Amino acid sequence: MTDLITRTTELAMSVTLAYVEPGDTVVDATCGGGQDTVALARAVGPEGQVLAFDIQRKALILTEARLHAHGIDNVHFVDRSFAEMSSHVPGGSAAAVVFNLGYLPGGDHSITTTAETTIEGLEVALRTIQRGGIVTVVMYDGHDAGKLEKARVLDWAQALDSRKFHVAYVSMLNQQNDPPEILWITKKK
Ligand SMILES: C[S@@+](CC[C@H](N)C(=O)[O-])C[C@H]1O[C@@H](n2cnc3c(N)ncnc32)[C@H](O)[C@@H]1O
Repeated sequence: MTDLITRTTELAMSVTLAYVEPGDTVVDATCGGGQDTVALARAVGPEGQVLAFDIQRKALILTEARLHAHGIDNVHFVDRSFAEMSSHVPGGSAAAVVFNLGYLPGGDHSITTTAETTIEGLEVALRTIQRGGIVTVVMYDGHDAGKLEKARVLDWAQALDSRKFHVAYVSMLNQQNDPPEILWITKKK
């Protein structure tokens, strides 16, 4: 058995997938290298679809190659910012929206999510998920922009109306080297 709590991105995804069923529409807001996209595409199956956003051509190409290697073809790519999600996904239609913040590993570190755009994207994501759906955010504060972004995201999340949303936050409390943290937000039914 895997020690799941030591693997932040897998933990984030395994909880997310508990909210996803075959045939669902889901959003990968930051497809990057495509790992999350593959997991989401498998979960929704051929009857469902994933909308994969990224502002970097390199990320979209990497994700496309990964999907191709896995024989997956239920992903629609959007080469726009996640802040523009509402132009591509109808409100209340997605079972899950997944954000993996920061920069593309092995890519240009100056192309990163920012506090302002991320909050904008999260606001749209909450309108995009259906009731009973989930928004998942993996946050990294090992770089300066990430520190500010995480602080702003946590302030924003803490202020969400508890009658409409449930917010959970996971931090690896005794680990070194700024491990990623997870935020989950579900929309109450
Ligand atoms: C940490 S990586 C994502 C990793 C990915 N989820 C995976 O499984 O490999 C962050 C990605 O966010 C992208 N990004 C940054 N700002 C964005 C924005 N406003 N909209 C969409 N993607 C953005 C970056 O180009 C980068 O590829």
